[in-house]
Amino acid sequence: MSSPYYKQHWIEIDAERHEAYDQILAYHPALEPLLRPLQLEPGLKVLDVGSGPGYTTMELGRRIGGSGKVVGVDLNMDFVAAATRRSRGAKLDINFVQSDFPPLPFRNCSFDRVLCKNVLEYVDSAGDTVKEMARIAADRGIIVAIDSDWDMLALALPPHARERSDRVLAAAKSIAVKEPKIGRMLYSLFRKAGLENVRVEIFAGADTAGRAAPMLKSSLARYARDSGRIAPDEVEHWVRDIDAAIADRQYLMVLPQFVVRGTRVEKGTEAR
Ligand SMILES: C[S@@+](CC[C@H](N)C(=O)[O-])C[C@H]1O[C@@H](n2cnc3c(N)ncnc32)[C@H](O)[C@@H]1O
Repeated sequence: MSSPYYKQHWIEIDAERHEAYDQILAYHPALEPLLRPLQLEPGLKVLDVGSGPGYTTMELGRRIGGSGKVVGVDLNMDFVAAATRRSRGAKLDINFVQSDFPPLPFRNCSFDRVLCKNVLEYVDSAGDTVKEMARIAADRGIIVAIDSDWDMLALALPPHARERSDRVLAAAKSIAVKEPKIGRMLYSLFRKAGLENVRVEIFAGADTAGRAAPMLKSSLARYARDSGRIAPDEVEHWVRDIDAAIADRQYLMVLPQFVVRGTRVEKGTEAR
């Protein structure tokens, strides 16, 4: 393995995980309040940093219309190819680019809006990535990062399943992310990048239907197994605990999303 695990698992994604991402990263109306701070309007130039399968990027494309421009950038080649195909099929003119970041492969001041959703926990340096997002934003451009905080994940399982669940989640977290506390760190990263008008909102919907279960059962279970910190049959048991909780209608999962917004203000133009 040439890269650290937190990056490598995005370079090579197996078919089961691809299928899970197609479900959990599909655009859903519940995302609407998370995108609102971007203040999208027709004609803007928008960058989606870590665009993945491109469902959110396509939603940005629909909102800015033919007079604007949307670009997505992501590490994974298959995501870039699938997102390109999908957006063409939907008659959206979106340019998907493959790149490992930071740095971001774009010129200074080239976007009016920059979004980065559920990505910063995986990069080598979240601080440098936010600085890059600030560099490529135009004067008065708006930058939004959306991220969870893995230490705030609440998974309700029956008492006999809790201790195992904690161990599986700790094992998964130990290798899958570079910065598990990214949600609570975003505010200071935005300030350090020199962004102004930094605002933080937190959204926490309860998943009781098992909508996020594919992410637990394919991605997190796989990370826990790969960590070598927990026996594979314990992980299988955990997956069965989740299925049983869903079947018994006792399952609940909450993973709060921090939505942080800042504005790039060029020095000397603050009073405008
Ligand atoms: C959880 S997905 C989120 C995708 C998308 N933003 C969304 O919300 O639908 C994380 C994405 O970050 C990308 N990623 C992770 N590390 C990266 C890096 N170092 N450079 C570029 N992309 C990266 C992955 O390939 C993956 O598509």
